[in-house]
Amino acid sequence: MPLLPRLSGAWLRPLALPVLACLALCACGPAEAPRPTPEVIAAVRPADARLAEIYATACHACHTTPDSGAPLTAVPAQWRDRLAKGMPAVLTNVVQGLNGMPAGGQCFACTPADYEALIRFMSSPPSASP
Ligand code: HEC
Repeated sequence: MPLLPRLSGAWLRPLALPVLACLALCACGPAEAPRPTPEVIAAVRPADARLAEIYATACHACHTTPDSGAPLTAVPAQWRDRLAKGMPAVLTNVVQGLNGMPAGGQCFACTPADYEALIRFMSSPPSASP
């Protein structure tokens, strides 16, 4: 006698694959957005022209380079824990510097509002760049 006689019924077979696929997907919980390619990470810019200029000259080099230790632009997963401590604390770290992060991110014309907009841009997925 088969172990699961009812499952051996031919009528169930077309259902087996979709059901298994669904179980496999559901087991992983909410899907994390796939990490953008290095080309995308290197290419994204803030929509605002002035911020884009600041970003390109001051933040881009480190924050698009995986080996720099900096959280990567357009990879929200790398920012989640940092932003969890609240924007004021993150701003303080940017202004004062933090380990390999130079004070002010080497931007001498940046206001706190600029930093906040840059942080929101850098921590957003590429499609949602403000
Ligand atoms: C010389 C390289 C370098 C430059 C230039 C740089 N960063 Fe960073 N940044 C880092 C590194 C490295 C870290 C990670 C520091 C750590 O957590 O030890 C970091 C971390 C950060 C963080 C997270 C701070 C926190 O509280 O966790 C923010 C926000 C940030 N950078 C914003 C910027 C902005 C905005 C600019 C441009 C104005 C900039 N960075 C320019 C290297 C750089």
